Amino acid sequence: MKQLNNHESRTCVRTMVRMVTPAGSDGFISLYLDLPEWDYTPGQFVMIRPENWDNDPVWPRPFSICEVNRNGLRLFIQVVGRGTRLISRLTPGSRVDLWGPLGNGFKFDPDDRLLILAGGMGIAPFIGLCKNHPHPEKVSLLFGHRVGIECYPLDELPQGMDKQYARQEGQSDLVLFQEMLEKRIQEFSGLGRILACGPTPLLRVVSSLSLKYKAETYVSLENKMACGVGACLGCVARTSDQGYVQTCTHGPVFRADRIVWEV
Ligand SMILES: Cc1cc2nc3c(=O)[nH]c(=O)nc-3n(C[C@H](O)[C@H](O)[C@H](O)COP(=O)(O)OP(=O)(O)OC[C@H]3O[C@@H](n4cnc5c(N)ncnc54)[C@H](O)[C@@H]3O)c2cc1C
Ligand code: FES
Repeated sequence: MKQLNNHESRTCVRTMVRMVTPAGSDGFISLYLDLPEWDYTPGQFVMIRPENWDNDPVWPRPFSICEVNRNGLRLFIQVVGRGTRLISRLTPGSRVDLWGPLGNGFKFDPDDRLLILAGGMGIAPFIGLCKNHPHPEKVSLLFGHRVGIECYPLDELPQGMDKQYARQEGQSDLVLFQEMLEKRIQEFSGLGRILACGPTPLLRVVSSLSLKYKAETYVSLENKMACGVGACLGCVARTSDQGYVQTCTHGPVFRADRIVWEV
């Protein structure tokens, strides 16, 4: 798990599917690809486009790098639409165009404490981060999810890590989850760095609580992306210091207090 600079060693390669494994019953898969010749920083992402897509869909799809292990480069994907459905049907040996590693990733000192706040698929970049962390006892996780916990590979997380899971099935659960977030952010402020990834409403709440408690927080935005390399301007986010910037090249990880959340 090397820490790379933004844009360092960004490549496009044609690679091969090694394995597709389903998780739970809600259309979650782990997609393993032949490992290209690069290392990555957790929080960086790839764009993938299977060779058999021809012109439909046109654009590749972005996914966080979940981890790199003996099975190859792993992406953890939830099937939500046409592109992810087609990806879930890939078989070993299928060819895929892969751009990466893209974006900046999460920077942190492994000796400092980390609080990870993840919602749903926002867990993907943290699987490899936690599995490779040299001091799991310094890492805490609060994970909010809507579908069954068995869909997520949480049993792979290291022993000794502090983990808290909260399912949101209704409005009252959401209020409870926000209270949990507030308590964790308040307690953690000044102790270490907070990293968050998940749906925009979660990141917006995390950012506002981090401002309130002056916690050092980084959020990974999942804006929709078409090119992944700064060219299409489809993924812009508004920042307090640079105005509108491309999330794919300036992020996807930003200091929470830099983001101006659009209403
Ligand atoms: C940097 C980054 C990292 C990501 N990492 C992961 C990951 O590790 N695992 C994973 O499952 N997904 C991840 N996503 C989201 C993933 O890219 C989308 O779910 C996927 O592109 C949807 O493609 P589709 O063709 O199946 O859906 P579409 O047919 O394009 O859309 C289906 C539904 O998904 C929603 N959707 C589409 N794109 C996004 C998006 N970028 N964010 C949120 N909702 C979206 C649409 O609004 C729509 O409701 C990531 C997105 C970004 C930008
Ligand atoms: S996805 Fe094209 S500019 Fe970011």
